[in-house]
Amino acid sequence: MRQINEQAPAKKEDFERLPRHVAVIMDGNGRWAKKHRLSVSRGHRQGTENLRGIIRHTDDLGIGALSLYAFSTENWNRPPEEVSALMQLILDFFASEIDELHRKNVRILILGDKSRLPDRQREVLEEAERRTSGNTGLRLNIAVNYGGRAELVKAVKEIASLVKNGRLTEEEITEKTVSDHLYTAGQPDVDLLIRTSGEMRLSNFLLYQNAYAEFLFPEKLWPDFTVADYDRALAAFSRRDRRFGSRT
Ligand code: IPE
Ligand code: IPE
Ligand code: MG
Repeated sequence: MRQINEQAPAKKEDFERLPRHVAVIMDGNGRWAKKHRLSVSRGHRQGTENLRGIIRHTDDLGIGALSLYAFSTENWNRPPEEVSALMQLILDFFASEIDELHRKNVRILILGDKSRLPDRQREVLEEAERRTSGNTGLRLNIAVNYGGRAELVKAVKEIASLVKNGRLTEEEITEKTVSDHLYTAGQPDVDLLIRTSGEMRLSNFLLYQNAYAEFLFPEKLWPDFTVADYDRALAAFSRRDRRFGSRT
């Protein structure tokens, strides 16, 4: 890897190997707002500003899938004004980005239970999925009202119902059967998980898919996380020795 350049983003050839699937827990908006004496909503808004650059760079590098944690099942427990600000940001993000994402052949998938979302948000997210469903470029997964445990419960229920209806036998159930019933069905497992702001936990994100992911916990708060920071994380990933339990 050549030196990370703050001005020019790295190129695919600069890395020895790149992850096929990157997951990002975009954390630290609240602390960023506090540090700058701004409202939490303003922190979240700032947090969406660098998203475009990160998504574009992921696409330029030819990484196959990017999963972004936008709103967890536990985030409903935040103050109502903050929840509404986050819901509004979802609308704003899609209004400003969907045309370009579609033009760039990005395929959007929402991870999570959309049925609990307000009508407007649900419609916008479904429309983004529908409109980009035929695209063959970057798989952009946005987790909204997502919980890893809830996802596993959903998968177990679907599989149980197939067995009950005689369409699958217990013996036929494999790890792939489980993967196939997750929101990320058909996509590779996460290779690299980045959580900004120095917190070192999964917070219920992609529990099954992260089984063998490499974890990186940059200290920077999400609104301060730049494309150069992202390149540094990718460079660190390419230096990691992944053994998957074996000796080589
Ligand atoms: C992450 O930022 C964004 C969401 C949870 C939606 P936080 O709001 O969790 O930021 P901190 O952890 O309070 O700094
Ligand atoms: C995880 O961050 C959820 C998102 C980034 C959307 P949180 O800030 O909600 O997680 P905890 O509460 O620190 O575990
Ligand atoms: Mg947080």
